[in-house]
Amino acid sequence: MIIAVDGPTASGKGTIAKALAAHFGLPHLDTGLLYRAVGRQVMINGGDPDNPDDATLGCAFPESLLDDPTLRSEETGGLASRVSIHPEVRATLLERQQAFAHQPGGAVLDGRDIGTVIAPEADVKLFVTASVEARAQRRYLEMRERGEAVTIAAIKADLEARDERDRNRTQAPLRPAPDAILLDTSHLDRAAAIELAISRIEEMR
Ligand code: DC
Repeated sequence: MIIAVDGPTASGKGTIAKALAAHFGLPHLDTGLLYRAVGRQVMINGGDPDNPDDATLGCAFPESLLDDPTLRSEETGGLASRVSIHPEVRATLLERQQAFAHQPGGAVLDGRDIGTVIAPEADVKLFVTASVEARAQRRYLEMRERGEAVTIAAIKADLEARDERDRNRTQAPLRPAPDAILLDTSHLDRAAAIELAISRIEEMR
């Protein structure tokens, strides 16, 4: 069984994907982490994330970079969004994601284009959304817990810029597959969102 989980930043898609993988006993790939590694590698190389050649060179990141905690930062998320608009970067990362999706037994992948480009044949496609206010509030609490000095207004502006870039790029823009199940987590806590996702999949099966 291939489960595709797509949605914008801080929608809860990563949490839901991880929980589904545990529930159904499937391996999980956070594809955003690959784009984050490319963005980080471009900075290590002293390159420009908006330059397609520099961004493509960033695809040769070492595997160990995937364990680097700085990949989870908001700053790296912004870099990832910038390198992800280049078709060369998307093409380079495509095969790795498709091989993961098609491993025997299946897999759960989360990202922006899993149900539309990476695995349009997925058995289950979820598109997880939440209002920008709810997402900014979640990010704010997470960042404050880590001791980072941030304001909700700054986070909201950053999320909106990232959404805009992810939705309006020409290559694999963020949008639900026509047959995706839509899950709005704006008013759900973590446990309720996971429970809803599992029950929608069980109903479908
Ligand atoms: O899910 P995330 O916040 O870690 O993703 C970071 C960026 O990577 C996101 O803004 C756009 C890009 N991305 C993408 O283009 N396609 C994916 N499948 C996953 C992430």
